[in-house]
Amino acid sequence: MPTFIVLLGPPGVGKGTQAELIAEATGLPHISSGDLFRENIKNTTELGKLAQAYMNKGELVPDDVTISMIRSRLSRPDCKEGALLDGFPRTTVQADSLANLLTEFNGKVNFVPYITASESTLIERLSGRWTCKAQGHIFHEKHNPPHKPGVCDFDASELYQRDDDKAETVKRRIQVYLTQTAPLITYYRQLGLLSEIDGTQPIEKVTEALMAVLGKIA
Ligand code: AP5
Ligand code: MG
Repeated sequence: MPTFIVLLGPPGVGKGTQAELIAEATGLPHISSGDLFRENIKNTTELGKLAQAYMNKGELVPDDVTISMIRSRLSRPDCKEGALLDGFPRTTVQADSLANLLTEFNGKVNFVPYITASESTLIERLSGRWTCKAQGHIFHEKHNPPHKPGVCDFDASELYQRDDDKAETVKRRIQVYLTQTAPLITYYRQLGLLSEIDGTQPIEKVTEALMAVLGKIA
């Protein structure tokens, strides 16, 4: 049976940071819907043009487009043993579609770690985030600084600040999370899949807590 993990939590809580580390530890592919949209924007595809309009405002990209993008990503051979989903699902419609989709792959959602932090922590993290242009490696100017400012430690590419990390857009993203994504906390809790993780700890402590939840597969 493949293993599918859904990383749940608000913008800036550390989903992407942890997903990189957990993917390395488990060998599961890291699938970030935000990264997939950003890749489409970089390649100026039709999907990228559509997604950018929503992302710049901090709104969600429509469910149908998002679900079909994830369906095609999960169909790739590297997901045969499962995947680590970061940023998807984000609505109950997406969660229902994921459940249906995974039955096609003889799988189901096995774990839903839910990472938490206060709103002020999220804002502080997003305002200091620097992301690598080539592969999306994530840094923070205070909490996880690159060895050389502005340069990625892993592939030496340039670091940039995401357009949607502007203060106004961050506020909207948090509002959208609270109204449209937070219902998934109850959704997955009722299914007995949710494990709450304190995201205010240092990065390596959060990883330890996550690995304890995922202990059976690591
Ligand atoms: P997406 O890219 O998924 O953004 P997000 O969910 O808002 O989350 P972020 O990537 O901002 O934060 P993160 O939790 O990954 O934190 P990170 O690890 O970087 O989505 C962007 C947009 O795409 C959406 O707004 C929407 O428009 C669209 N979209 C995406 N998915 C969609 C979907 N399913 N449906 C519809 N639309 C969708 O960490 C943040 C910072 O904190 C970093 O600087 C990091 O170094 C630092 N940090 C991390 N952990 C710690 C720690 N423990 N202590 C101190 N600092 C830490
Ligand atoms: Mg992310």
